[in-house]
Amino acid sequence: MNDALSSHTYIRQLNFRLRSRLSDFLDSQDRWKAVIGSLRKPSGDPMYSQMHIRRFEGLQFHGRSPTHAFLEDWGTTNSTVGELVELLKSLGEVAAARVLLPEAEQDVSSEEPQSAPCSSQQEDGQTQPQTLTSVRRPKSPEENTEPGYSGFYMLPYSELKRITGNFDDRPASSGGSHLGEGGFGTVFKGCFHNRAVAVKKLNSVEDVPLEKLRDQFNQEIKTLQMLKHRNLVDMIGFSCDEHLCLMFAFMANGSLLDRLACLDRSYPLTWRQRCLIAEGIASGLEYLHNNHHVHRDVKSANILLDEEFVAKISDFGLTRALVNQTSTTMTTDRVLGTRAYMAPEALRGEITPKSDIFSFGVVLLEILSGLPPADENREQQFLIDIRENIEDEDEELTLHGFVDPKMKDWDLSQVECIYMLASNCLHNRKNRRPLISQVVSEIHGVVKENALKCPE
Ligand SMILES: Nc1ncnc2c1ncn2[C@@H]1O[C@H](COP(=O)(O)OP(=O)(O)OP(=O)(O)O)[C@@H](O)[C@H]1O
Ligand SMILES: [Mg+2]
Repeated sequence: MNDALSSHTYIRQLNFRLRSRLSDFLDSQDRWKAVIGSLRKPSGDPMYSQMHIRRFEGLQFHGRSPTHAFLEDWGTTNSTVGELVELLKSLGEVAAARVLLPEAEQDVSSEEPQSAPCSSQQEDGQTQPQTLTSVRRPKSPEENTEPGYSGFYMLPYSELKRITGNFDDRPASSGGSHLGEGGFGTVFKGCFHNRAVAVKKLNSVEDVPLEKLRDQFNQEIKTLQMLKHRNLVDMIGFSCDEHLCLMFAFMANGSLLDRLACLDRSYPLTWRQRCLIAEGIASGLEYLHNNHHVHRDVKSANILLDEEFVAKISDFGLTRALVNQTSTTMTTDRVLGTRAYMAPEALRGEITPKSDIFSFGVVLLEILSGLPPADENREQQFLIDIRENIEDEDEELTLHGFVDPKMKDWDLSQVECIYMLASNCLHNRKNRRPLISQVVSEIHGVVKENALKCPE
């Protein structure tokens, strides 16, 4: 921190480190736009026009920071740190204001963000997607009625550190906080406002540079800001000052991958539970697809289960909104996602909801068999390839033998129905795969039959 810094210091005198710390806050979610949009000339006219804003925006595509550029430009006037701090405070950007003047206080209410509903839930558990705006720290309940209000807590990293016992690396089951490890970070358990939460601390690894990680971070916030559904994971907040972290509602039963493997000696899932989980995933996907989104990373590790075993789709870092909402296909030259779940066209870089259907087909095979999607020690490494053995009459494997032996309450006609559905989802030609609405109605039929057979 610059010791000599005061509210009278000119913006042009800010050192690079402070400018970079401000960029960490303001580049995220384009929050710099609200700042420069609030600046006025003495005449009351906006200081920066739409053309200026687009120019700053364009810098991002060259890997440059719009906040840096704007500070550079605004610094050519006699603007001061005091003016910027006041502006940031009026926009609720208290954490950014404190980068400059640590004693800067929030104008409205206390420092603690207040929980507020961010969307109105409909009877079927669906909500209308909200329009995107910048993510701001919650201020007061009245302000939360603003359209597009994100409802997420923007927290300092230090707070997440505190609620996770300093990111205690010992397993949560033995008194620590560690819940699991993924390709992009580590997940820790914490307690926030008397509620159990999972904090995902993103780490840049060798093949995932920080820039890409930040993209995924922003994408996840953007998507979960707009889309709310009973079968999508519930995001609570994030930090983007010292470290990128995402905070979600804690899912007491972990991931579907772990429960199918009976990790930590959990009970095998029953057939009824498996059918309800499949129905939940399909409903979540239907909601995404109806709202022109493709998840792109559907896999059992990304299906979390709450205390009632309700399935919640997670990990929206790769999710993409289809640009032209009348067309349902896009292309990308970055092939991401997980190999064992990827449809042939997804491997070629195409982005279509039909690839989510393919991946869901693999998840259905896992649900039926309890087998992992890929296993180096198996003759057929990929689960999709084992299917060929079932369909080949010369091979010994039957559907009966494929079904998870840890599960007892299954019914052959229902298993056949779900297996047929999985096979249709796994068609190599994307146009032969069913639509998500068909998938939902097939699974719903099985769930309904189960409920009639043995009502609870
Ligand atoms: N909200 C949550 N509640 C409880 N446990 C969670 C939660 N989110 C993640 N986990 C645990 O942390 C593990 C790691 O999750 P993470 O999303 O980082 O990795 P992954 O899904 O295994 O792989 P990838 O990085 O490819 O998505 C999960 O498998 C799960 O066990
Ligand atoms: Mg995941």
